[in-house]
Amino acid sequence: MTIQKTTTTTEQKFMPVQLDAIRVDSVLSFDVFINVNNNLVLYRSADLPFTERTKQKLIENNVDKVYITTDSREKYQSYIEKNLNKILHDPKIAEEKRAGILYETSTNLVQDILSRPTYGENIKRSKDLVENTVGYILKGQEAFHSLLKITSFDYYTYTHSVNVCTFSIALAQQMGFYDQEFLFELGVGALLHDVGKSKISERILNKRAALNSIELEIMKKHPKWGVDILTETDDIPEASYYPILQHHERGDRSGYPNGLALNEMHIFSKIVSIADSFDAMTTERVYQRAVDTFPALKMMFTINGAYDDIALKAFVELMGPKGLSAL
Ligand SMILES: [Fe+2]
Ligand SMILES: [Fe+2]
Repeated sequence: MTIQKTTTTTEQKFMPVQLDAIRVDSVLSFDVFINVNNNLVLYRSADLPFTERTKQKLIENNVDKVYITTDSREKYQSYIEKNLNKILHDPKIAEEKRAGILYETSTNLVQDILSRPTYGENIKRSKDLVENTVGYILKGQEAFHSLLKITSFDYYTYTHSVNVCTFSIALAQQMGFYDQEFLFELGVGALLHDVGKSKISERILNKRAALNSIELEIMKKHPKWGVDILTETDDIPEASYYPILQHHERGDRSGYPNGLALNEMHIFSKIVSIADSFDAMTTERVYQRAVDTFPALKMMFTINGAYDDIALKAFVELMGPKGLSAL
């Protein structure tokens, strides 16, 4: 293997990416580095084509991860988003790796959305991503279970958004909704359901103690703020606004912002409220230990009338027994 010595200084920071995510016969807009005896060296510079042979050499040397500079993260992210559809349907890439690339791409994208939620381009990107996610989950059980295995159990708004989007699409499918348009509109709302939290300070979001009444009032504004933010660009489907506004509504009228009853909630909201509550319970938070899948599902059943019965039963079916074993 010919290795060019890198001229990088020690200040440069790198991040690993899956070799599988790099398509052959494309000119990349970023340099690719490899790890040689714990030194990162330039393997392919941005202006040279990344050919089958270039990739094959790495595979022969058991390399499955390559590195890019953190400065080129944005370029890499847009490259992956453009190629995501091909990657997700490439039979040469193992199912878990495909799921891993989808999850990583999604969480990076949601991070971008939360830092610039009113930027139209970010909304367009999230719609493309949901379309890919719907297509991927519709491929079948194996795809969803691969995603489930890598679902992060540490709570961050961005990983949470991706988890809720995944669970919502899979739950709708379990309930018998296969229409692509339906799943797409639901997925967009689910991915963006907490976008209003971008207006809330980290101090409140990550507070260890219980929130005081003022903080609680601020927190309760995020569904409405999410709608306000997205109305600025008004680039998402009409129906996708429902789960953003209603995901904290509960069928027994104990939710917010409007204390709706179950029959006043949109079907998307019924689905996303289950996915959202489940993910919030089963992930580790600064102020709360994660609850296991079974107790979490049980708790959701005991709150009489809070969740839609049909949707909740379908969710249990979805998570078990194969779903449960994947956790
Ligand atoms: Fe929320
Ligand atoms: Fe949420």
